[in-house]
Amino acid sequence: MKTPAQVQRLQEELKRAIDQRDVFARELAKMLQHFEEKVRELSVIRRIGESLKYTRDVRKVFEVIIGTIMDDTNAENCSLMLLNRETGELTVKAARGQSDAVSSYFHTADRTGRTFRLGEGIAGWVAQHGEPLSIPDVSAGTVVPFYPELDEQGEPVPITDLSRNPQFVFAPDSAPPIGSLLCLPLVIDKEVVGVVNLSHPRPHAFSPVDQRVMTIITDQVAIALNSVQIFDDLQHLNLVLEEEVNRATEEMRRTNRELQVEISERERAERALRIQTEQLFQAQKMEAVGTLAGGIAHDFNNLLTQVIGFAELALIEPDHSPRWREYIARLPENAQRAARLISQLLTFSRQAATEPQALQLLHLIKETMKMLERTVPENISLRMKISPDVALVNADPTQMQQVILNLCINASHAMPNGGELTVGLENVTLDGAYCQQYACARPGDYVCLSVRDTGVGMAPEVQKRIFEPFFTTKGVGEGTGLGLAMVYGIVKSHEGHIHVTSEVEKGSEFRVYLPAMNVGATLVVAPEQESPVGGTETILMVEDQAEVLDAGQAMLEGLGYRVMTATNGEEAIEVYRAHRAEIDLVLTDMVMPKMGGQALYEALRQIDPAVKAVLMSGYSLKQDVDDLRAGGLKGFVQKPFNFVRLSRAVRQALDEQT
Ligand SMILES: Nc1ncnc2c1ncn2[C@@H]1O[C@H](COP(=O)(O)OP(=O)(O)OP(=O)(O)O)[C@@H](O)[C@H]1O
Ligand SMILES: [Mg+2]
Repeated sequence: MKTPAQVQRLQEELKRAIDQRDVFARELAKMLQHFEEKVRELSVIRRIGESLKYTRDVRKVFEVIIGTIMDDTNAENCSLMLLNRETGELTVKAARGQSDAVSSYFHTADRTGRTFRLGEGIAGWVAQHGEPLSIPDVSAGTVVPFYPELDEQGEPVPITDLSRNPQFVFAPDSAPPIGSLLCLPLVIDKEVVGVVNLSHPRPHAFSPVDQRVMTIITDQVAIALNSVQIFDDLQHLNLVLEEEVNRATEEMRRTNRELQVEISERERAERALRIQTEQLFQAQKMEAVGTLAGGIAHDFNNLLTQVIGFAELALIEPDHSPRWREYIARLPENAQRAARLISQLLTFSRQAATEPQALQLLHLIKETMKMLERTVPENISLRMKISPDVALVNADPTQMQQVILNLCINASHAMPNGGELTVGLENVTLDGAYCQQYACARPGDYVCLSVRDTGVGMAPEVQKRIFEPFFTTKGVGEGTGLGLAMVYGIVKSHEGHIHVTSEVEKGSEFRVYLPAMNVGATLVVAPEQESPVGGTETILMVEDQAEVLDAGQAMLEGLGYRVMTATNGEEAIEVYRAHRAEIDLVLTDMVMPKMGGQALYEALRQIDPAVKAVLMSGYSLKQDVDDLRAGGLKGFVQKPFNFVRLSRAVRQALDEQT
């Protein structure tokens, strides 16, 4: 049996033990809870840490955070918002909820998050104040510091029904009603960077443990966010840098391209300048050679006149043996040939007389082609490529014929094995760009006469020299090298230019550009110039070549004149003596055997100082003719003459007052 005292002691001990046990149990429970919290905390850290280990995609990290929160708390809806300090906007970065409506409320159609203003709604309040806010029962009269309305004294009126507060932003009507809310700020370095929202349709859904866990989670989330943000910033920086590099590279490429264009442009300009300089040099050289040739030609002319004169004088002497007479008779003949060369040189040096008129080159081409048909070998086919309505040119027909003939003969010579010779005629407008390429060209309207062959072509070093007088690649006796020099001189004196293209073994093309006459001018000039004028006077025609004499006589008679003829100077003097009263004009060839035209004229003037005479010649000895004109000569006709030219010269001489 125990004594009452013993019993009491025992009871006290038991009580103490029980107390101790309770304390111990409480301690244990506390420790367990602490332990549990630590485990949860660790598990949150681990899960978030894991997610960060495997992904640097911010959106995925957000998803993991939300998932962790939903797993570890009672929440049915959860959203994570980040705050942009500059704009003061809270943007939903991730959201999850039991109902679709919640998610559609938080996410806009383009998958970017819905935005709230700082201070707007519960999240806005929490972000602004940096304090968590728990509303255990949204509808019940919980007093919350949430935007209290102020009474008349300016004191906050306790909010009893939050859902009636105009500042409270609710989920859409279709969403399940919200019973309880928990909203926590995300803080890094004492600065709110966002909020986490939890809600449940039922009131009092979040236990104090939930709240504690949430505090742990939000700390971890903030840390995670920080590192993700840094990474994100880095990535963004990287992107910006990459863009910058791309932009700079593109800029560099563009500058490079521009530079390339500029370089090739400059190279082109330099090339053009080189070509132009060369062309100018070439033109200057031709000019110098022309002046030289002109000077020599004049000297030669004077010498030849003397040769012819003295030879003719020598022939008058009756004492020569027949052999000597034959030798001497050859002199004027050869001198004439030399004179023909001289006249070509004069043409080159542009000192030959030109008689320009409104001219349709087409007629001339047709005439020349007819002539060529007879002379060009059969294995060469002749073609014409004539554009319609080709403009007139102001040109000397005889010289133009020389141009066409020379170019065509050269072309046919270039095709010893046959080929195609094409003569073309077209209107061409030369613009500034063309003229920049060819130093001697001027912009404007031109008629282009072209002669193209499919012959041997020319090497560049030959092409450079073809217009020089006496430059020829032909054998002795085959070419004098004056053909193109003449063409050059003629075209120059008509203010035109020539453009040559050639390829060895392929062929060549000579394009002669002559300024087009404007239509108004041709209408006035052409008819007046083209009609022959006649008369009824008597003309003595002196010409040693029977065909020319016949032709001339026929033309003059056709014009209404009466014609007497003589085939040399002596005969002419006789006829003149016999018919002096009838003869109104003497038309005489310049170069004739026995007595030339000049000598005849002098002799006739001895008989009749008022004699009217016109000289004809196959070549123009301009200076001599001018001298003779000064001495009373009435006119000069360039051979081969045509109807119009002959008629005009004769009429003009007859009409002139003595
Ligand atoms: N169509 C062409 N094809 C190839 N080479 C040509 C052509 N035209 C001219 N040539 C070259 O130009 C040179 C000079 O020509 P040019 O007409 O001045 O003299 P030529 O024909 O040699 O002699 P000439 O015309 O005085 O009888 C020729 O010798 C020839 O080498
Ligand atoms: Mg020639």
